[in-house]
Amino acid sequence: MISNNQQKNLSEIISLCKRRGFIFQSCEIYGGLSGFWDLGPLGSLMKNNLRKLWLKKFTRQTDNVFLIEGTIIMHKRVWEASGHIENFTDPLMECKKCNTRFRADHLMNGKFVGQGKAKEKGQCVNCGSKEFTEPRMFNLMFKTFVGPVENDASIAYLRPETAQSMFTNFQNVVNSMRAKLPFGIAQAGKCFRNEITTGDFIFRSREFEIAEIEFFVKPGEDEKWFDFWLEKWEKFFLEIGIKKENLRRYEHPKESLAHYSKRTVDLEYNFPFGWSELAGVANRTDYDLRRHNAFSGKDLMYFDEKENRKYFPYVIEPTMGLERVLMTLIIDAFEEIEGGRTKTTQPTKEKEYLLKLNKNIAPIKVAILPLVKNNEEIVKKSRDVFDMLKCDFYCQYDDAGSIGRRYRRQDEIGTPYCITIDFDTLKDDTVTVRDRDTMEQERIKIKELPDFFKEQFEDI
Ligand code: GAP
Repeated sequence: MISNNQQKNLSEIISLCKRRGFIFQSCEIYGGLSGFWDLGPLGSLMKNNLRKLWLKKFTRQTDNVFLIEGTIIMHKRVWEASGHIENFTDPLMECKKCNTRFRADHLMNGKFVGQGKAKEKGQCVNCGSKEFTEPRMFNLMFKTFVGPVENDASIAYLRPETAQSMFTNFQNVVNSMRAKLPFGIAQAGKCFRNEITTGDFIFRSREFEIAEIEFFVKPGEDEKWFDFWLEKWEKFFLEIGIKKENLRRYEHPKESLAHYSKRTVDLEYNFPFGWSELAGVANRTDYDLRRHNAFSGKDLMYFDEKENRKYFPYVIEPTMGLERVLMTLIIDAFEEIEGGRTKTTQPTKEKEYLLKLNKNIAPIKVAILPLVKNNEEIVKKSRDVFDMLKCDFYCQYDDAGSIGRRYRRQDEIGTPYCITIDFDTLKDDTVTVRDRDTMEQERIKIKELPDFFKEQFEDI
C-alpha cells in the first residue's frame, strides 16, 4: 500500500518552498550549482528555531553537555587519524558512452529508474547505455590549500562531519570545564561532502549543517548509554512534530557499519521517495580518541579519579543534518486541501496548502491583519499591535487582499496564529485571534496578547 506520505507530491512541496521563501537553489541566476541550496527568509528562521530547540534540549537542559564551535577547515592529519582519507569513500561508476558519473550502489539499486532515459536498473539516465566502467572508490572530502602555495604540505580539508573537533578538543574541554564522565560535547555547524550524486531536493546536498553530540562514557557502560540516547533522540523528532507512523528505526547490519562504529541505528523517515535516513545514533567506541592519541602523540586518555586509572572513554553519537530535518518537517506538515478550508473562506477552485508545523518551529508566529487598509484608526491600531508583539515574536504584517486570501497565505507558511483588527477593536480594544489548525476564532483584549502568546510558544 502506498502510504499517505508517499502520495505527497514532492514537486509541489519544492515549488511551495521556493514561492514562499523557504529554500532557493544556490546561484540560480547562473544556472545553479548542483547539490547547493540557499535558505530563504522563512527557511532561515525555521532552521534557526530547530537549532535553538536542539540547543535548549541537549545543552541547556541536559547536564554535562558542553557546546563548542570548531573550524570548518581542519588539518590533513585529523582526517588521516579519523580514517576519512582512507575510508570516507563511495563507489563511483562512469557511463562509457557519455561519461556521466553515478554512485554505483544507487545505479544498481534502481534509484534512477524513471528519470531521464533510465527505464531499468543499471541504465544511464543521460543516454540509456548500460555500459559502465568498473566501480572505483571516490573520496567525498573537499580539498583545499592553506596559504599562498598549493602543494602537498598545504593541503587541508573541509570537514565532512563536525565530530572530529570534539575529539581533538577532548582534553581542552575536560581541563577547562572540569568535565567528569559521563559528559558530552555538542556542536552544530556546516559540513561539506562532495557527493557523487545529489538529489531528492535538499535530501542529499554537498553543503549542509550537522548538529551532533559526542557523549563520552566509561567503557562497558556504552551499550546502556546507547539505548538511553536512542530513546531520547527519537523522542526529540516526535516532539518537534514528526508523525510517529512516519518514523522508524533501522539497525545497520555489521557489514554496513562505518569504519568507526560498533553499532549504528538510523532513524528513518517515510519520504515521498521511500524510507530513508533522517538521523542516527552510533557507538563510535574509543576509535577516534585512540587514533588521535596515536597520530598526534598527545595524551587523550581520561583520568578516572574514583578508580585512580586512565582509559579511553567510549563515545555515543546522536547526529542529524539540520536541512534534512527541515525538509522532513515541511513534508510531514504539508497538506493539500481540495476545494479549500471552507469554514471561514469561500470555497475556491485554487489548490490550498496548509503547513501544520510545530508551533515552535514555525518561522512566523503571528500575522497581523488589519481588516481594511483605508481606515486610519484601524491601521494605527494594527501597527501598534505589530510593534508590541514583534518584541517577542516573529510577526508578519499583511494588509493585501481579502481576509480569506490572507489567512490562506499564512496557512501556507504554517503561521500558527492570525490576528484581525476590525471595527469592534476600535470600540472595545479586542482583536480576533484565529488558530491555524482548528480555524477557531476568539476575541482577546490587546493588552492580554503578549501573555496569551507566551503561553502558546516555548521559550527557545
Ligand atoms: N558524525 C556522524 C555523521 O556525520 P552521517 O550519518 O554521515 O553521520 C549525519 O551524517 C547526518 O547528516 C545524517 O543523519 C543526515 O541527516 C545528514 N546528512 C548526511 N549526508 C548528507 C547530505 N549529503 N546532505 C544532507 N544531509 C546529510
